[in-house]
Amino acid sequence: MRRSVVLGCGAYLPERIVTNADLPKELETSDEWIRQRTGICERRIAAEGETTSDLALNACRNALERAGCGVDEIDVLIVATATPDHTFPATATRVQANLGMKRGAAFDLQAVCSGFIYALSMADNMVRLGQANTAMVVGAETFSRILDWNDRSTCVLFGDGAGAVILRGEEGKGDNTDRGILSTHIFSDGTGYEMLYVDGGPSTTGVTGHLRMEGREVFRHAVTRMAEAVEKSLETNNLTTDDLDWVVPHQANIRIMDSMAKRLALKPEQLVVTVDKQANTSAATIPLALTAADTDGRLKMGQLVSLTAMGGGFTWGSALLRW
Ligand code: UT7
Repeated sequence: MRRSVVLGCGAYLPERIVTNADLPKELETSDEWIRQRTGICERRIAAEGETTSDLALNACRNALERAGCGVDEIDVLIVATATPDHTFPATATRVQANLGMKRGAAFDLQAVCSGFIYALSMADNMVRLGQANTAMVVGAETFSRILDWNDRSTCVLFGDGAGAVILRGEEGKGDNTDRGILSTHIFSDGTGYEMLYVDGGPSTTGVTGHLRMEGREVFRHAVTRMAEAVEKSLETNNLTTDDLDWVVPHQANIRIMDSMAKRLALKPEQLVVTVDKQANTSAATIPLALTAADTDGRLKMGQLVSLTAMGGGFTWGSALLRW
């Protein structure tokens, strides 16, 4: 049975750090409120003129280098983003050109904060079916550009960044001891559309708009949906939470992650957490967190890793993989 094995991952964060104390004084917020309610201490903000494709390009270069993989080996490049450079063409095609990638296919995928899980699922299917041998999956966002900087209930929560993962097809035995992606699950419920959305777009107002969110509702759904998605992936592979080494959840709020971990009876140390330093970078949080845990040596070959996310749509999902 063909499996998509992680060949390597990479990350890029813009240089500028904005701490809670650096936020505009008019916001009427505090470092204490933000830390206690979200776990966020600081976030990175893209420089003027630095676009989503720039962040993605740097993350891809980092992943290629760490994986020891040439750009000419990539058969498909998928960029998960809700903040594309332009309405069209796909940001992925700009990344493709800037990488000097002259073959294969490049396209964007939009599932907001679940975008990386959705893109990983698409790439895994393409690799397992033999449509691609090597795939690069990127989560890249410049959410700072769609925030209403006068709305304290949303603007303190997000940051900019990009992460990339390279997958390669390898033969496995077809059981849950195989290395690589064991399964992916994706879900959506469009009745949640107005709970988390941007109040603009090409077909409505004609302008980009700003992020709007019913924070408490999103919080509630995130805990339940992410826990369910992790359980579903374990069940599918005849595994239990006791078998898990690491969970890399979408990084929106430390309280969401802690509540999900409690539901799954996980130890807090099994969570990979980056929200404190990076805030919520939407589709980029999972590849950024994976890269952090790979870089510091936490992820060891053969360990069982669960990825899960929930976001606008509502969308949610999980991927279970053996590192
Ligand atoms: O990636 C997926 C998308 N996002 C998420 O998953 C985020 C999900 N939601 C959350 O993380 C949380 O709901 C928030 C962090 C957004 C809010 O935390 P909360 O504990 O649910 O607070 P709340 O919305 O119930 O607000 C409590 C109070 C309110 O004041 P009153 O009405 O009690 O007087 C807010 O106005 O906190 C106030 N508040 C703030 N105060 C200081 C809201 N934002 C701030 C702020 N600073 N930045």
